Amino acid sequence: MARVDALILDRMQSDVPVIPKLAEHLIAAGGKRLRPLITVAAARAAGGAVDNAVKLAAAVEFIHTATLLHDDIVDASDLRRGKVAAHLIWGAPSSVLVGDFLFARAFELMVETDRIEALGILSRASAVIAEGEVLQLTRSHDLNLEQDTYLQIIAAKTAELFAAAAEAGAVGADIGGAARQGLRDYGMNLGLAFQLADDALDYGGASEVLGKNAGDDFNEGKATLPLLLAVQRTKGREDAFWERTITKGERDEADFARARELIVGTGALSATIDTAYDYADKAKAALSSLPESEWREALEKLADFAVSRAA
Ligand code: IPE
Ligand code: IPE
Ligand code: MG
Ligand code: MG
Repeated sequence: MARVDALILDRMQSDVPVIPKLAEHLIAAGGKRLRPLITVAAARAAGGAVDNAVKLAAAVEFIHTATLLHDDIVDASDLRRGKVAAHLIWGAPSSVLVGDFLFARAFELMVETDRIEALGILSRASAVIAEGEVLQLTRSHDLNLEQDTYLQIIAAKTAELFAAAAEAGAVGADIGGAARQGLRDYGMNLGLAFQLADDALDYGGASEVLGKNAGDDFNEGKATLPLLLAVQRTKGREDAFWERTITKGERDEADFARARELIVGTGALSATIDTAYDYADKAKAALSSLPESEWREALEKLADFAVSRAA
């Protein structure tokens, strides 16, 4: 991971000063580096070499960083990784363009591995993420969003990159077959677990721990699982409250606390966390196609971590 970080630092450089400045603001702020960790550990767990995995891991983190820059504009979020969001300092236009720059750097890194299949996996993932974000945009504020559509959205905007990160690790090490498929399934299920936990944290977590503001989803009127479950469970009682705050988007200061109360009180929050644990279990089960090793164990622990930060 030290090699991955050094590579990230090296490749975010540019002679146009605002690019490294803005990129550094976000990248040096940390982040959990979960996705690149998965790429490297996947290559190891599959019994392969890591030289390509290091490049692909840096590419994966660049793709992730680019989506965060774009996502914070789309979501009008003020806080990211415990710092003021980049678009509030440099403006949305610079943030969008630096996001594009990081995307492009990711593709350069992939090409350097000379693994056309890995390039295919991560290119496809980049398109799917954008599709997920757009689908979510067109369906937010929808109190009747089907649970299946919600899952389709989080699979696309979040889990696809985890799946691609794991699969690319194997492919970069020239490993295919059941190991490659198992790693892809692992990443997909872990990604679903991760976003479910993240959606729970938006009602159950503290901003200081999250490094981003709790309540962002509610304040955008975003239909996530904890909200959808609470709406169902309070049918006939709280319809007017949800209608006003989510459908019409008329919210005042006290509404988030009220929403949180209903989401916790109806058990919608714990049901979301339970669902996240189910997917984490599926992720771990998918690793059975790999030989036992300390790397496989590390991936198993990562699946638990993805959810336990919500508990
Ligand atoms: C944030 O991902 C975006 C989501 C998919 C919820 P992370 O929580 O992995 O962000 P960092 O990289 O650790 O900041
Ligand atoms: C994260 O979406 C997915 C992407 C960045 C593509 P969210 O909007 O749900 O994540 P946070 O809460 O801003 O990290
Ligand atoms: Mg978003
Ligand atoms: Mg967001």
